[in-house]
Amino acid sequence: MKAIAVLPGKPNSVHRTDLPMPSVRDVPGGRGVLVEVLRVGVDGTDKEINAAEYGAAPPGYEFLVIGHESFGRVVEVGPNVTGLKPGDFVAATVRRPGKSLYDQIGHYDMTTDDTYYERGINLLHGFLTEHVVDDPEYLVKVPAGLKGIGVLMEPLSVVEKGIVQAYEIQRRLRLWRPRRTAVMGSGAIGLLTALVLRLRGLDVTVFSRTRPPTLKSSLVEAIGARYVSTEEASLHEAARELGPFDIVFEATGSARVAFQSMEVLNKNGILILTSITGGRKSLEIPADDINLRFVLDNKVMFGTVNANREYFELGVKDLAHAESEHPGWCSRLLTNPIQGLEDYREMMRQLTEDKRAVKVYVDVRPF
Ligand code: BGC
Ligand code: ZN
Repeated sequence: MKAIAVLPGKPNSVHRTDLPMPSVRDVPGGRGVLVEVLRVGVDGTDKEINAAEYGAAPPGYEFLVIGHESFGRVVEVGPNVTGLKPGDFVAATVRRPGKSLYDQIGHYDMTTDDTYYERGINLLHGFLTEHVVDDPEYLVKVPAGLKGIGVLMEPLSVVEKGIVQAYEIQRRLRLWRPRRTAVMGSGAIGLLTALVLRLRGLDVTVFSRTRPPTLKSSLVEAIGARYVSTEEASLHEAARELGPFDIVFEATGSARVAFQSMEVLNKNGILILTSITGGRKSLEIPADDINLRFVLDNKVMFGTVNANREYFELGVKDLAHAESEHPGWCSRLLTNPIQGLEDYREMMRQLTEDKRAVKVYVDVRPF
């Protein structure tokens, strides 16, 4: 069976390889679910893995099959599988449990182990292949009515986790009614965050570099959010008028923007950090001032990575909510389709070069 892999540690090594066809018997206890892969999204993490900045091969392999944003259809289930049947559409979670207490209770996204296992990223093969097998615990059913946008489930799960955790943390306030929110970045994560915050009825400003009008600015406006180009107004200028913000969700990939975000947060506000910054940059910041405002204004910031099943399930609900409130909006994020597994070079090219792309994805099999 075909698969797309990299040689971790070797820059630009993306290539086609072969894997043996998996079987439901590969999962112990009769709990195997065999899934035919339909669509796989790619993102900055795949770019960094191919640039050899990130990622590790599974033990015994020198290559790593990439792709962690999956969407597929069940073709066969083991004798002890309940809740999934052939024909069901599913999205798979990415991380698999390690040893810590959090891993043991299904919260593998909060592991305290030093080593984490992520399909398509770290120590486990991913989904850019034809079939995969997994335990039903890691497969979340996507209703057939959402199949056209099911490939957005994994990035959406990351957004859901960030927002749920922010509300959990803000229970410290006993009463919290956030109103103004800001999203830094208008990639897939930024746009999905704007969507979820709008579905919660919040005022949303999306900050992005490019001057409007662009597809991204029109997507932002279509859901009743505001698009601000930081080439037209600095974050601080814009925040004087539109902020300060009760929630800032940072998803630009830039640590500089993460630090700037600390300065536009409202009293009692919360900053959600999601950018995975693989570089080694240093920068000068107004440290006394930032620290003072955090202390005097009871502000919070926290980092969040990955997502467990609970957040995928929430993602299904929000996709359905989005389709009824803004029909067709989610599918407009699917900007760059690649036909089949053979065209992996073009996939990487669009991922690294097409600055207007929102989501590059591979149509592995027509459905
Ligand atoms: C993935 C997450 C993963 C993170 C760190 C992201 O691109 O979407 O699932 O936990 O990278 O490896
Ligand atoms: Zn990702």
